[in-house]
Amino acid sequence: MQKTLLSGVKPTGTVHLGNYFGAMRQLVEMQNEYHSFVFVANYHALTSVQDGEVLKKLTLDLVMDYLAIGVDPKKTTIFLQSDVPEVTELAWVFNTLTTVPYLQRAHAYKDAEAKNKEVNVGLFDYPILMAADILMYNADVVPVGLDQKQHIEIARDTAQKFNRVFGETFTVPEPLIVEDVKTVPGTDGRKMSKSYGNVIGLFASDEEIKKAVMSIPTDSKGVDEPKDPATCKVFAFHELLQADNLEEVRKRYLEGGIGYKESKEILIDNLRAFIAPLRSRREEIARDPEMVLQILRDGAEVARAQAKKMMEEVRAKTGLILQ
Ligand code: ADP
Ligand code: TRP
Repeated sequence: MQKTLLSGVKPTGTVHLGNYFGAMRQLVEMQNEYHSFVFVANYHALTSVQDGEVLKKLTLDLVMDYLAIGVDPKKTTIFLQSDVPEVTELAWVFNTLTTVPYLQRAHAYKDAEAKNKEVNVGLFDYPILMAADILMYNADVVPVGLDQKQHIEIARDTAQKFNRVFGETFTVPEPLIVEDVKTVPGTDGRKMSKSYGNVIGLFASDEEIKKAVMSIPTDSKGVDEPKDPATCKVFAFHELLQADNLEEVRKRYLEGGIGYKESKEILIDNLRAFIAPLRSRREEIARDPEMVLQILRDGAEVARAQAKKMMEEVRAKTGLILQ
């Protein structure tokens, strides 16, 4: 039987190369092999985006982004998390099986606590809603970046716990982490992340690409000096893009004879060539928002039908329905 794949992205800002290489690209490749679900995690976004108009815009933008990279609504069910409110009901059931100390060990919560941020209950409970997202559709695999691995483990624990208490119900999902990408670095060498302001947008304009690349810090080695590709923050992007001239650039790094300025110029060209077709497809899609809304209506119908069925089983097993 065909295995089920599911993934979601929060609509909290512009999609960047880290999101693409870490999580989104796999969906395009895998939708041919898997029964696929992709959704916009807008309930999750509410833990940080608290402006209705902004959330609406980010949500629609993200759906367009998915379509632009090649997620095909004929092969993948694309939907909004909030179009399947059953998922919050399932999260509630899971809440009752989860202890507070267990969630206190989650990275996202620990990080927020360490920074003395005010943590809303939604953020604290974030991994449980995510477990509900995944288990609702009996997902076998969940492609995500390395930073989400713990959340998949929480989903696995939750499935096992429910199954133990109420009988075999949920598939225990596997994370799918692309080993050769792992964490995409940002322009400052840290993990590329919206929250660090070190991103290169997946649909960035030529000017934005140039500005981002120019801001990558380098050391003071001269043109002729050999350079270590493994530690150069510019080279990290060459490696990511895997352009045709990658090996040539690597050789010149090792032997000396390429300056950071030239390396950056090559990178700008390669990035522009990589992004241009994505950007033009994205612009085409943005001209037809009604088509996008129709895709979401269709996707919601498919997802919701499956969620209702699952919730009936959960309600029956937990004693929430009487007959
Ligand atoms: P951000 O850190 O920019 O807020 P998100 O947390 O919204 O990004 O991540 C969305 C998806 O993209 C997740 O599956 C995450 O693992 C993946 N991802 C984000 N940044 C990176 C990165 N720098 N490298 C690899 N994957 C990433
Ligand atoms: N937590 C994920 C992120 O930060 C988004 C997400 C929510 C998700 N629910 C999911 C990802 C279910 C995969 C499966 O990016």
